[in-house]
Amino acid sequence: MKKLIFLSALISAVVIFNSCTKEELDKPVATATPSSQTIKSGKKTNIALTANLSGTTFSWTVKQAGVSGATDGNGPVIAQALTLTGNSLGIATYTVTPVSGGVTGDNITVVVTVESGQKITYVADIKPIMINNCGSCHLAGGSHPKKFDNYTTTKNNINEILKRVQQSPGSDEFMPQGGSKLSTTNIELLKKWQADGLPEL
Ligand code: HEC
Repeated sequence: MKKLIFLSALISAVVIFNSCTKEELDKPVATATPSSQTIKSGKKTNIALTANLSGTTFSWTVKQAGVSGATDGNGPVIAQALTLTGNSLGIATYTVTPVSGGVTGDNITVVVTVESGQKITYVADIKPIMINNCGSCHLAGGSHPKKFDNYTTTKNNINEILKRVQQSPGSDEFMPQGGSKLSTTNIELLKKWQADGLPEL
């Protein structure tokens, strides 16, 4: 009797295990190559979509900020010419959904950064971000003694500024304190300003 119970328990365990793994196997897992891309304004994206299951099809929706030319679509490659609408940097965020045999897999996200080819500068690009988002506390007259109100102080604190704005809004160190997270475009502008060597003009 004991043996019989053990056997039936074993069989049901195997059946459950099999049905789980089968479901996992049927669900397509998408990969984007490259997983993110930086292009010059006016050029085309070139992102290949593949999955672990042959016959998977892909569709995407896109949100664009500071660029035009990105549209929702489908197919194995995202190839869209993106053009800056402003002068410094734009972002298109693609959300890709894989489907195989009627089963929908998890979405993946592909971020495309569009650059003008010119350097990001403090006066044109960074100063407005700091004034609009940090000014109430970190400009002259603001509540915090540390001021990011000119080129030198902003430049000298760029590591700490970047660290703070990339925290999640719940964390102690998050900036702007009590505010909402900077847009992806503004965070990318700060990063690229650093990568460009922190020029003033
Ligand atoms: C509502 C007021 C407020 C706003 C808006 C705000 N901060 Fe702050 N910030 C503070 C306070 C208060 C502190 C001190 C507490 C701390 O270090 O977390 C601080 C500290 C900092 C520090 C550390 C300074 C040091 O002592 O080294 C950095 C860097 C910083 N903030 C960056 C920013 C940036 C960048 C923005 C805009 C995106 C911003 N803050 C917006 C209130 C603010």
